[in-house]
Amino acid sequence: MNSQQWMEKADRYIMKTYGRYPLVPVRGEGCSLWDADGKRYLDFLAGVAVNNLGHCHPRVVAALQKQAAELIHCSNYYHIPSQIELAELLCDRSFADRAFFCNSGAEANEAAIKLARKYSREKFGTDRYEIITALASFHGRTMATVSATGQEKVQKFFDPLLHGFRHVPFNDADLLRRAITPNTCAVMLEPIQGEGGIVIPSPDYFREVRRICDEHRLLLIFDEVQVGMGRTGRLFAHEHFAVTPDIMTLAKALAGGAPIGCMLAKEEVAASFGPGTHGSTFGGNPLVTAAGVATVRAIFAEGILENTIEMGEYLMGRLEQLKKKFPMIVEVRGIGLMIGMELSVPAGEIVARALTQGLLLNVAQDTVLRFVPPLIVTSVEIDEMLQILEGILAEL
Ligand SMILES: Cc1ncc(COP(=O)(O)O)c(C=O)c1O
Repeated sequence: MNSQQWMEKADRYIMKTYGRYPLVPVRGEGCSLWDADGKRYLDFLAGVAVNNLGHCHPRVVAALQKQAAELIHCSNYYHIPSQIELAELLCDRSFADRAFFCNSGAEANEAAIKLARKYSREKFGTDRYEIITALASFHGRTMATVSATGQEKVQKFFDPLLHGFRHVPFNDADLLRRAITPNTCAVMLEPIQGEGGIVIPSPDYFREVRRICDEHRLLLIFDEVQVGMGRTGRLFAHEHFAVTPDIMTLAKALAGGAPIGCMLAKEEVAASFGPGTHGSTFGGNPLVTAAGVATVRAIFAEGILENTIEMGEYLMGRLEQLKKKFPMIVEVRGIGLMIGMELSVPAGEIVARALTQGLLLNVAQDTVLRFVPPLIVTSVEIDEMLQILEGILAEL
């Protein structure tokens, strides 16, 4: 079937939860996608920061093929070697001592919310359940994570929301301090707000947040679902701020495109999750965790973090040059290959035109063009992207 035929069928059978672009990708390799009509696209969205190793990375494909032939699924009633290996890889490279696996970012945050509440109640009493999060944050689409998310557009229609969340402006430690009540148990933040428009806090914000959490004995939860796994040039984005959390959530890029979520925690906190307290049928199953192990190994074996830093600097520099040329560009900001370009006009038209010219980009918060290409991107591919983008900016 061609793209048009697929889209007609989608219109008939698929729920309309997404405003989808007219594109039917059927094959991917590296930073390229091909649609059902054979047209190539340069992918600077990477499945929204999922395909960090590019599409169909050979190590991930090989791991999936091998594991699929051996054992796809068993149950968390049993021990799962690839899950254990992935937990070890992540704990060895982070502040954490233990991992819990699930299937998505929202589920990882659900797990973090439940763990923070259970730990805090056991330690400090039943009144400690409230979690402070940031305005313009995004933590997922389940009821708890919608309640945690600081965006009205995500929350409306779903009242009543879950009780026990307070939202404060991001990057303002004073207001966060003032929002603490005797009921507060944790603070949950993205190290860089992704859906919020690539918002990078001031260098000392998280140090102050950590200090506040320590003073009030609150847990600090970092949602690294979008910015983790090398996106910023460090394995975890919070490493840039020299602060460690008590709990961290991962998903998106953790298994090279296979659906996975993970919550990591320090031993003392993790100990609150005993048998029967939380779980997931598919969470950390043999297939996805085999892909996760291959992904983490590839990041270090193939110099992915180094390339992210180098290409991030190159792309930022080139976008800064564009800013001098086009007054509609208000600001270029980012760390590594997590880059936003804020415009004085809505960015949707640029994304639509880019698509027709074989370039995949994305918008966050209406006016911010988001660049989250695979971390294997080359300067040749960046130049190709910029040539298309510059042509579109010149047309507008
Ligand atoms: C920071 C952050 N947290 C959580 C989520 C939710 O992840 P998922 O869509 O896998 O549930 C996202 C998704 O964009 C995200 O960016």
